[in-house]
Amino acid sequence: MYTIEIADNLHWVGAVDWNIRDFHGYSTERGTTYNSFLLQDEKNILFDTVKKPFTQDLLHNIRRVMDPEKIDYIVVNHVEPDHSGALPEILRACRPEKIYCSLNGKKALVAHYHDENWPFEVVKTGDSLSAGKRTIQFLETRMLHWPDSMFSYLVEDKILISSDAFGQHWATSERFADQVDEPELFRHAAKYYANILLLFSSHVQKLLATVGDLGLEFKMICPDHGLIWRENPEKIVAAYDKWSRQEPANKALIIYDSMWQSTEKMARGVAHGLLQEGVTVKMMDLKLNHRSDIMTEVLDARALLFGSATLNNGMMPNVADFMMYLRGLSPANKIGAAFGSYGWSGEAVKLMNERMQEMKIELVDEGLRVKFVPTHEDLAACVDLGARVGKAMKQG
Ligand code: FEO
Repeated sequence: MYTIEIADNLHWVGAVDWNIRDFHGYSTERGTTYNSFLLQDEKNILFDTVKKPFTQDLLHNIRRVMDPEKIDYIVVNHVEPDHSGALPEILRACRPEKIYCSLNGKKALVAHYHDENWPFEVVKTGDSLSAGKRTIQFLETRMLHWPDSMFSYLVEDKILISSDAFGQHWATSERFADQVDEPELFRHAAKYYANILLLFSSHVQKLLATVGDLGLEFKMICPDHGLIWRENPEKIVAAYDKWSRQEPANKALIIYDSMWQSTEKMARGVAHGLLQEGVTVKMMDLKLNHRSDIMTEVLDARALLFGSATLNNGMMPNVADFMMYLRGLSPANKIGAAFGSYGWSGEAVKLMNERMQEMKIELVDEGLRVKFVPTHEDLAACVDLGARVGKAMKQG
């Protein structure tokens, strides 16, 4: 528990969760943080709270800065319980005059905490609030990534408190992005985007256009998870622009699960064919790679090749799990193909093709099935499949 003054009279008072390892199916293998910010001015304002088990950390941190009862307003940029779980107890401790949130935020808070008598003050894009020397401007960011989400912008300081956007699930003792290893930071930021925001990429594009139209400049971006972007915050904005465009690289993923290594042998043959065409290939055995790490690789992949043995007239459970997860995140601009070994019924390839068609992944090929163990000729056909996908990638 500690606080840090991140700008004049603006403190980080959040909590670091070193131990969380799963966030709704996303592997948070390096933990996360729940960031909360306390502005001291003529009106004292707390921006977002923390997950419920960290309520005492937040209260302790607030007390290191000021008496909680001196907090005048609480801004709820986002209602998901990792940011509002502590709110009921914080309200009892602070007794603020007002809770600022979007209309959807008010509805969601009532649906979560069942108290319509909280002192709600509903705001919308363009509304502002004077804290004294500072002005807070609100910007609704619906579906980034809940309907209630919004940003708070400290106008005079050009500081954006950005809710979930621009965040990373990464627990660190450092609070600023410029204090940690940049490639690792961007790997966490990309994983966060791929697993949480990819589905809403068109909203991200619209939001970035709105930010441009409003002429908003950012000297600092303070997300609700992970590190604060203090130096060159435009780097993460540019990364969001790139990721949300979903323009693929010359990269293919072979995502597979095998039963007796026949499908794995086929996967190696497919990889060989892709390599012949100069494609960067990543082999992703679903027994060894977490679905959320594969999603990070999906972000800039052009081709997705799915391999599965047939099990009980279906595909392998790991493949079904990943395809369901992928469908929810709705990737764009992908081509694909399926392959797999079978014993007698052999439905997996057909089922994987159907799942890809549902996701609007353009099928390059009807797919390749091999009975039991691949022969040399079968492996040559796998190489040929990889090469056909590689050639299709060059055609755009
Ligand atoms: Fe970090 Fe959507 O909650």
